[in-house]
Amino acid sequence: MRDITADQLRQLYIDFFVSKGHTQISGASLIPENDPTVLFTTAGMHPLVPYILGAEHPAGKRLTDYQKCIRTGDIDSVGDPHHLTFFEMFGNWSLGDYFKEEMIEFSFEFLTKVLGIPVEKLSVTVFEGNDLVPRDEISAAKWESLGIAKDHIYFMPKEDNWWGPAGETGPCGPDSEMFYDTGREACGPDCKPGCHCGKYFEIWNDVFMGYKKEKDGSYVEMDRKCIDTGMGIERTVAVLQGKKSVYETEVFQPIIKAIESLCGKKYGENEDDDMSIRIISDHVRTSVFILGDQKGIAPSNVGQGYILRRLIRRAVRHGKKLGIEGAFLSGLAETVLELYGKPYPELVEHKDFIFDGLVKEEEKFSLTLTKGEREFEKMLPFLIKQDKRVIAGGTVFKLYDTYGFPIELTKELAAEHGFTIDEEGFNVAFQKHQEKSRAGADQSFASGLADHSDATTALHTATHLLHAALRKTLGTHVGQKGSNITAERLRFDFTHPAPVTKEELKIVEDLVNDAIARNLPVTVETLSLEQAREQGAIAFFDSKYGEKVTVYTIGDFSKEVCTGPHVENTGSMGHFKIQKEQSSSAGIRRIKAVLEK
Ligand code: ALA
Repeated sequence: MRDITADQLRQLYIDFFVSKGHTQISGASLIPENDPTVLFTTAGMHPLVPYILGAEHPAGKRLTDYQKCIRTGDIDSVGDPHHLTFFEMFGNWSLGDYFKEEMIEFSFEFLTKVLGIPVEKLSVTVFEGNDLVPRDEISAAKWESLGIAKDHIYFMPKEDNWWGPAGETGPCGPDSEMFYDTGREACGPDCKPGCHCGKYFEIWNDVFMGYKKEKDGSYVEMDRKCIDTGMGIERTVAVLQGKKSVYETEVFQPIIKAIESLCGKKYGENEDDDMSIRIISDHVRTSVFILGDQKGIAPSNVGQGYILRRLIRRAVRHGKKLGIEGAFLSGLAETVLELYGKPYPELVEHKDFIFDGLVKEEEKFSLTLTKGEREFEKMLPFLIKQDKRVIAGGTVFKLYDTYGFPIELTKELAAEHGFTIDEEGFNVAFQKHQEKSRAGADQSFASGLADHSDATTALHTATHLLHAALRKTLGTHVGQKGSNITAERLRFDFTHPAPVTKEELKIVEDLVNDAIARNLPVTVETLSLEQAREQGAIAFFDSKYGEKVTVYTIGDFSKEVCTGPHVENTGSMGHFKIQKEQSSSAGIRRIKAVLEK
């Protein structure tokens, strides 16, 4: 077996598939283009969904690439030796070209010939079938014909051998996964591929994309069958190097070494410290990729920005736990850039934005972290005395509101002391706070600012129309990054990688004015976040806070989660005019606009 690095593996994989008639394409942004149901690109196929569904890809029917991916479901598990939030995925695709058997031949050849993995070290799984799709005898027979022993081929149910869709709807299908047997002892009689005891490492997944999941949850068979595959780079490299954990490979070691020299501790000597070291390494790597993405996201309280904020703040706290003094994240970011600048040139291009984002966020949080922790610790003896092991929702909210502790971080802090938190109570406190600030705003309108309220309300509705018009004109990657309304004008910040051209601005303006002229009704309803998403409402708040959200619908033009207030009909808003379009920060544009009477 070849002992190879991530960089070498990247080259071997791409070269192999290019030699098999595939075209190498560039990986896409971490922020999905056309899928508001997830925050990040989660797999190599994600950006290719339209092509798997039938659109013609300009590069042909056989494609290959490496794609940066983030899976946020794993954040709280990061710290153990295996979980990662960011990872790279190799993939190759057949868009209605070759199918199962040829793909399995490719996989077998690459694993055994190119990587030199001994056949007996490989185990594979195939789909056992259900009432929709038959048992996958074809794949099993193919693997066997190539030399995989029968007792290394496992038929598994849908929970294990079905992949996708990447978001809520889209292409999916049964798959066949390949595992490397480390030779370690099985953890029990039921140990088999998919078991997490460390005996089997999953290295590759061949998905036979033959179905499309619809909004109503049903599966429709697609006429044109596609292949989608995914191989996690970090994990495969660990396997090939005989390492037990991705953190032991050269992908993480330079970052870990840098952390060691900052805190004067050695990785591998104390489990608590190791955990903090792994959390920092993972989170700083992911943060660099989010900030340095072509659609560069800055820390915020919504959507991707909130995930970034959580990652940075959690890393800062663990840095402090390790005894690191002073700001350290941008120093570590240098190391990440050295590791990834070549395969991901956008990181180098956005270097300033990355450093600036890290420094500011670290500074902001460092100021309140110690105070917040002190506040937290002061409370513990009282709770213990009262025999309570739950941190009250109000306290969790105070830590959030006053000290900037993301709720997940407080949860982790609590767990370290053997406590849980009252999430329900937090939600109530959070909502109360929102209602209060809303009431406060209403009151100020009522007391003397009444003449302004009409103006700001209309501008608020105009902001929704603008947001919808931008998405219709530029694409659904446009997302709100900030909004500021005075009685005179609106200011709207949004993600878009390039300046908006004059022609595009004119289209946007016309769309908004057309919506105003049509005198569209503005209706409001309360829905669960789920329902709101299902109905296509724009909701950039990846929220755990409260089940229900208020959704404002403007005719057939816009649907958005928001707290209001808005006009009742668009007709009397006036004439919408964009006054200025400019850069706000990397990847973020700013529009200022007015309503002329
Ligand atoms: N899309 C498949 C996966 O992510 C290949 O595993």
